[in-house]
Amino acid sequence: MKFFIDTANVEEIREIAEWGIIDGVTTNPSLIAKEGRDFKTVIGEIVQIVNGPISAEVVSLTAKEMLQEAEDLVSIHPNIVIKVPMTEEGLKAVKEFSRNGIKTNVTLVFSATQALMAAKAGATYVSPFVGRLDDIGHTGMDLIKEIVAIFAIHNISTQVLAASIRHNLHVTEAAKAGADVATIPYKIFKQMVQHPLTDIGIEKFLQDWERAIK
Ligand code: E4P
Repeated sequence: MKFFIDTANVEEIREIAEWGIIDGVTTNPSLIAKEGRDFKTVIGEIVQIVNGPISAEVVSLTAKEMLQEAEDLVSIHPNIVIKVPMTEEGLKAVKEFSRNGIKTNVTLVFSATQALMAAKAGATYVSPFVGRLDDIGHTGMDLIKEIVAIFAIHNISTQVLAASIRHNLHVTEAAKAGADVATIPYKIFKQMVQHPLTDIGIEKFLQDWERAIK
């Protein structure tokens, strides 16, 4: 399973990218707004840090405007993936992007039929939002399992990108479910690397090493 980092903060991306385990980056309008910086400048910096798919989301609501808006974004770097909302207009735009060889990430996916339609339109990735489904009392991970199973049965090449990841267990469960990608917030990466037994183990080894004959 690939690891994307789910942030628009270049310092966070730089820090985690140094670990050598980042395959790509996802951003969304909320994450961009949080940075208080120019969208294209931020995306331009991100592509210099991570050599992999970088999702940049359009905010237009008509296919025509989405296509126009994406022109600027794809000109930033060949690794740009256009993130498109799962709507009727979004599907039209994805179909057109796909015809033009532009990669897409269909976002705000909350059902298997939405994922199927996005795939039929030619989406490169579909992003089911696990955490937001959990928030309203559903088991978000069941949707990942369902989409992975359907795509396998029908030999669909669209990749399942587990999004809205809120904790460590979501990452483990997404991997077990066969998601192609998990997009993970900075804070969760920091938690994933840690285990109290690792810290205790290091301390004990260092104490014992002090007593060793060297
Ligand atoms: C990523 O592509 C999504 O926009 C993101 O994972 C949403 O996460 P949230 O539900 O925590 O905002």
